[in-house]
Amino acid sequence: MSGHGNPIPMSSAKCGPLTGTANVPGDKSISHRALILGAMAVGETRITGLLEGEDVLDTARAMRAFGAEVTDHGGGAWSVHGVGVGGFAEPENVIDCGNSGTGVRLIMGAMATSPITVTFTGDASLNMRPMARVTDPLALFGAQTVGRVGGRLPMTIVGARDPVPVRYTVPVPSAQVKSAVLLAGLNAPGQTVVIEREATRDHSERMLAGFGAVVTSEDTDEGRVITLTGQPELTPQTITVPRDPSSAAFAVCAALIVPGSDVLVPNIGLNPTRAGLFTTLREMGADLSYENERLEGGEPVADLRARFSQDLKGIEVDPARAASMIDEYPILSVVAAFATGATIMRGVAELRVKESDRIDAMATGLRANGVEVEEGEDWWIVHGRGHGAVPGGATCASHLDHRIAMSFLILGMAANADVGVDDGGPIATSFPIFEPLMAGLGANISRGA
Ligand code: S3P
Repeated sequence: MSGHGNPIPMSSAKCGPLTGTANVPGDKSISHRALILGAMAVGETRITGLLEGEDVLDTARAMRAFGAEVTDHGGGAWSVHGVGVGGFAEPENVIDCGNSGTGVRLIMGAMATSPITVTFTGDASLNMRPMARVTDPLALFGAQTVGRVGGRLPMTIVGARDPVPVRYTVPVPSAQVKSAVLLAGLNAPGQTVVIEREATRDHSERMLAGFGAVVTSEDTDEGRVITLTGQPELTPQTITVPRDPSSAAFAVCAALIVPGSDVLVPNIGLNPTRAGLFTTLREMGADLSYENERLEGGEPVADLRARFSQDLKGIEVDPARAASMIDEYPILSVVAAFATGATIMRGVAELRVKESDRIDAMATGLRANGVEVEEGEDWWIVHGRGHGAVPGGATCASHLDHRIAMSFLILGMAANADVGVDDGGPIATSFPIFEPLMAGLGANISRGA
């Protein structure tokens, strides 16, 4: 929901070895999709391991507002009684997606080809983020939009009464845009085609197929061409949500930089469209292994084991990998601070339109903590100081961005002086158990200015 109440200042101090098992929560991307597709199937979808973070809870509330019966059975077990493709009721009130770009963009897509009118809003961060990237393709289906200047929320979408299928090339690498178009295509007759020049996370395609939609992906000279046949009857599913690699990243990276650490992070989704960070860390010399590799619910899964890595080296990160680790650049920049040499990150303009401008937020906070950072519109370079040589000592602004807040708290675990964040409240959007989980491994995070 909009706003996170009073700011919660937090700080993190140097700690002894991090050890033990980190059971991180369910995958945020998959959790949103499970609720939304569950609401678009006829009958009961059962979900275990759902992420019960604020972002996903906002999507659950939204699905109820559209007429689905969404029930929390406790312990991450949920059920959704869906209303079928084209069966959404018009919500009586404004849909508040809080901090969640994924939630709002996917739901906009899902409703845009139904004859209902919906007003969307969010918190101060979400209401600054660009929505035209979604409403432009939705207009091609016949949906109409009225929003604030610059395509910002709050925004009202009038769903298409007689939707037509669309062929659309996504102009920016964005799984949210791709997914919004595919979800809109569900209630359009005929075939909707989405083309992405750079492959982004494919959870929507995998889950749509699981629900019985006919969806194909083909790699061509144009890029990846995804074709969906509209107006299927979606069959309810039993979904086990794998644990979130983007949350695992914080425990893994903390273990790599805190001397003596040895942490196991079990059951992590390692879909290749998500796992770029782990490849990058290994290239930097991280002691990181995959154990017990397997397939669960159509997604590759493994247990990650991360140990302190004294000799991390700065590298040039392959820009072709950007989409597969887009949410992990903030925490990578923290690891880069403890590496020797420069870590160069290019082709990452999208980082400027996340929950915050993540290049600016991290560069400012790292500099305040004694780390040199250079930046341009779509690139940045962190000049590593090496193990044991990051000064720390500053309090950083988290800009309503969970990943910025967690990244700086990890920095403080290995820096020479405490590192603070002005507001750790947003952490609850994706990783509500971050503090107790990190404390259980041996971290020293405290609340208060
Ligand atoms: C997501 C896609 C990415 C990512 C976000 C989750 C998704 O956003 O940053 O956290 O679940 O589809 P973009 O599609 O804007 O790259």
